[in-house]
Amino acid sequence: MLNTLQAVLSFLVPAAVMGGTASVTTSATTLDNLQTAFNGESNANARYLVFAKKADEEGYGEVASLFRAAAKAEEIHASNHAAVIRQMGAAPVAHIEAAIVKSTRENLRVAIEGETYERDIMYPEFIEIAKREKATSALRSFTFALKVEAVHAVLYGDALANLEKLRGKSHTYYVCPDCGNTLAELNILTCLVCGHPKSGFIAVD
Ligand SMILES: [Fe+2]
Ligand SMILES: [Fe+2]
Repeated sequence: MLNTLQAVLSFLVPAAVMGGTASVTTSATTLDNLQTAFNGESNANARYLVFAKKADEEGYGEVASLFRAAAKAEEIHASNHAAVIRQMGAAPVAHIEAAIVKSTRENLRVAIEGETYERDIMYPEFIEIAKREKATSALRSFTFALKVEAVHAVLYGDALANLEKLRGKSHTYYVCPDCGNTLAELNILTCLVCGHPKSGFIAVD
């Protein structure tokens, strides 16, 4: 399964990164977009932590682990965006909203929707604007996040499809400290998103 999950990374480079010509009609600047992304990632982190608690309550131990691992990845994305915001002379600001918690099945659907939106709409648009503004650090941070949200969408989709098999004990996931790449097994040498060696990956269960 891991190879399938990581294979998704090889073709999920958006047209904007590849030099595509899709146009974006917005007046938002890269700094605005970094703040939006920082806010989104901070809220995703908080939401996944409460979804993990709910999954534990419902006995879906492995799904709880997946939510905690993804929460760690979103924290890394938020931290990467925050560093670029500070480089640009501003302060990162997030408004954490109370997450609406339903059943784990419903929570997985909400998570898939969020990841898919970021993968297909939000980050491709932010990447195109960052390219236009030659904002290299933002481009890197947005691209890491986009690729990892694609991995999360696949992991959550698999969890939803196999939910009843995921009752019971927790599972250890591995999260790249630089880009948040999230692995169900640590059978790589270096991160397929950012090249970080596997020795630095963070175990989350
Ligand atoms: Fe994610
Ligand atoms: Fe990485």
